[in-house]
Amino acid sequence: MKSYRAGVIGCSRMGGFIDNEVIGAAGIHLPYSHAAGFTACGRTELVACADLRTDVMAEFGRLHGVPAEGQYTDYREMLAKEGLDIVSVATQPEPRAAIVIECVGQGVKAVYAEKAMAASMAEADAMVEAVEGNGAILNLGTNRRWDERYDRMKEIIDSGELGELEHLIVYNVGTLFNSGSHHLDLALRLNGDQPATWVQGHVPDSDQFFDGDILTEDPQAEGIIQFANGVKAHVLLTARSSEYEAICSKGTITAIHDGLSWQVRKASPTGLRGRDQLQAVEAPETSPSSSTLRLIEDLVHSLDTGEPPRGGVRAARAGNELIFGLIESHRAGGARVPLPLEKRTTRLARDRAPRQPKYRPD
Ligand SMILES: NC(=O)c1ccc[n+]([C@@H]2O[C@H](COP(=O)([O-])OP(=O)(O)OC[C@H]3O[C@@H](n4cnc5c(N)ncnc54)[C@H](O)[C@@H]3O)[C@@H](O)[C@H]2O)c1
Repeated sequence: MKSYRAGVIGCSRMGGFIDNEVIGAAGIHLPYSHAAGFTACGRTELVACADLRTDVMAEFGRLHGVPAEGQYTDYREMLAKEGLDIVSVATQPEPRAAIVIECVGQGVKAVYAEKAMAASMAEADAMVEAVEGNGAILNLGTNRRWDERYDRMKEIIDSGELGELEHLIVYNVGTLFNSGSHHLDLALRLNGDQPATWVQGHVPDSDQFFDGDILTEDPQAEGIIQFANGVKAHVLLTARSSEYEAICSKGTITAIHDGLSWQVRKASPTGLRGRDQLQAVEAPETSPSSSTLRLIEDLVHSLDTGEPPRGGVRAARAGNELIFGLIESHRAGGARVPLPLEKRTTRLARDRAPRQPKYRPD
């Protein structure tokens, strides 16, 4: 079987070192970083990397076995020389679109792009056009889409045993680009990637975040999302971090502590005068696995077979559209804004230095 040549652009925490931050953490299953994922996958070989920071890249090379001749400060040179099949773009979102477009233009057939997809909707559109126009595929690093625990949640929703899905609750959406990208993607996945038709959003303390059409920080938001199939998602800002609930016509399923435990309740005629009341039933068993590795294996499967990946560039754009939908609704005074958005030029542009990765576990 062919081994696919892989490269990583952006060799910092998510590109190469985040495993050192989370070793032993409940609910996290290594490998977590892109590089560790490529090493663990039996069908990929990590052969090259690119970063603007040579010190970080040298440590990355030592940890992941990429020799100095495979390390580049100019990712374009890496693409021209290395004949890569799969490339990770683990930078921050601001430079992501330009890099992804260059990758697929230079013949890369599969991209593992970190979230959030892009700094503006115009850039997300350009990424869709470039990926599809070059016959490539892209999975966004919204890990819960490949997490077996949330596969189980989706199976239970899809089975109909709780009735029809009516509402999804994201209990803490957090900052939109950093955390919200994960949670909004999970809402899309649990609802079968149905299109959203409108969004209504509120960005607390928003004055500090906007400079004309430039977003100078990654803001938090809350709001409502209406999907074409009638399902509504409610995205909240509460202390219930990484907790989600699906409310169906005859029951509910709740992920607690990011799916470390579950609560399932089903309607039974035990209420006053025989009315339906929700009663706890047995919670599902879920099995641990690495969502990073499953995402990479999904790309490998698509390269092998030509079948589409589980994520794909359009699902990535749909999540980005929810981020900007919440923002644009807020800017329109909290009005419902129809999707796809008309205005696509609002852009995230933060003035921030990259983080220092943790080279070794404690
Ligand atoms: N999926 C997850 O669970 C998860 C976890 C952490 C971070 N992330 C995401 O991963 C991305 C990276 O996060 P991080 O904390 O590792 O970022 P970081 O800011 O620490 O590092 C980004 C790296 O990209 C490099 N870079 C920037 N422009 C470049 C270019 N043109 N060419 C080559 N290298 C370039 C920088 O030098 C830096 O080393 C973010 O989008 C973040 O949201 C995802």
